[in-house]
Amino acid sequence: MRLSVIGCGYLGAVHAAAMASIGHEVVGIDVDERKIAALSAGEAPFFEPGLPEILAEGIASGRLSFTTDMSAARGAAVHFVGVGTPQQKDSYAADLTYVNAAVDALVPFLSPGDIVAGKSTVPVGTAADLTPRVEAAGATLVWNPEFLREGFAVEDTIDPDRLVVGVPSDEAGARAADVLREVYHPAVAKGTPFIVTDLATAELVKVAANAFLATKISFINAMAEIAEVTGADVTQLADAIGHDVRIGRRFLGAGIGFGGGCLPKDIRAFSARAEELGRGESVAFLREVDEINLRRRERAVQLVIEGLGGQVFEKKIAVLGAAFKPHSDDIRDSPALDVAVRLHGLGADVVVTDPEAIANARRVHPQLTYIDERDEAIRDADAVILVTEWDEYRRDLAPEHASTLTAGRVVVDGRNGLDAAAWRAAGWTYYGMGRP
Ligand code: UDX
Repeated sequence: MRLSVIGCGYLGAVHAAAMASIGHEVVGIDVDERKIAALSAGEAPFFEPGLPEILAEGIASGRLSFTTDMSAARGAAVHFVGVGTPQQKDSYAADLTYVNAAVDALVPFLSPGDIVAGKSTVPVGTAADLTPRVEAAGATLVWNPEFLREGFAVEDTIDPDRLVVGVPSDEAGARAADVLREVYHPAVAKGTPFIVTDLATAELVKVAANAFLATKISFINAMAEIAEVTGADVTQLADAIGHDVRIGRRFLGAGIGFGGGCLPKDIRAFSARAEELGRGESVAFLREVDEINLRRRERAVQLVIEGLGGQVFEKKIAVLGAAFKPHSDDIRDSPALDVAVRLHGLGADVVVTDPEAIANARRVHPQLTYIDERDEAIRDADAVILVTEWDEYRRDLAPEHASTLTAGRVVVDGRNGLDAAAWRAAGWTYYGMGRP
């Protein structure tokens, strides 16, 4: 099938390459010439495992191309819209400028019968607002939210755990659902749930899923706060409650909390939208979720201060991690960098290391010192803090080895990823998050 993908950021670039890899003919369109040049050359503009391979394969096969020319969308049966919906500068609400601009730019190139499939995360009601513009061109607007996780984006796109398509309640909507089933044929054929809803439900599924995940993380971090004043261990608590299949152990990792380009902005935009709808109180708890999350960053800073005897001024602190999570070079709203910046602000000599995210981090926080090599970052540090649980810090860094690099034997485990007993046995003072 011929497809176009408008917006070649994280979501769009992965979607375009993944759709080509399952056999479709895909053109990716974006206004950013540099991004298009990189993608056309088969280069991923960000770190994402598996993406360079499917980009190269798609381009070599002739099924995948990228352009800044919107007229290239003409003739595609389905046009996916995957542009960004960032947080507005002066409020929590989502900024829909790019969604509106993308749809307006696309409309002149639509043919009757085309399908426009929104993939961006939007406030509920956005699709209804966009529908008249798309229908005026004889096309049908559907909403097909994306649930991909960074670091697993290719796998999540090709083999998702569910597909959700919101369609209008008419014949065109029913036909559009069938066309989307065909687009996702390999996943549908292997039995992936394909859930057809109305437009509002599809929009809400996405924000509800992210709100739930964020709430789960803040719930366990709230338990960590209670554990801290009672001497309990939140990781054991998470294991114990996680055995209940109704609860489940995943996303009960207490630590410095969630960040990234999705969860923080999505729960804020959800709160803002609920207020607009006169139902602010329904999701008032999301403010709490946000606050708990931000408090944990400060807690990590306090542990470093405590570990260093009350002050960090001119102390060398090795910060292991900059990305908002492992397997990503994304530093948007990264708790790791927030902790590093706060320590730097207190006069500490902060050295940040990360296997993938240093270039991005340096651009945004040039005041920090960056070292590529983990061991060089740790050398002569007064304290070490783990803030992004990459395997090279969590699994592969033996405390005995760290002891050969530095005399400072203070380690703060901001992700509860280290073996506390092993670090203590090697002579380190270990501080976890919500652990005695
Ligand atoms: C998230 C959603 O998972 C995904 O479905 C949606 O499409 C986009 O937003 P992503 O931002 O890639 O994906 O990251 P995710 O793996 O969900 O992690 C988000 C943050 O939560 C990270 O900062 C991570 O470190 C943190 N986290 C995760 C915890 O603090 N504890 C946990 O137990 C799990």
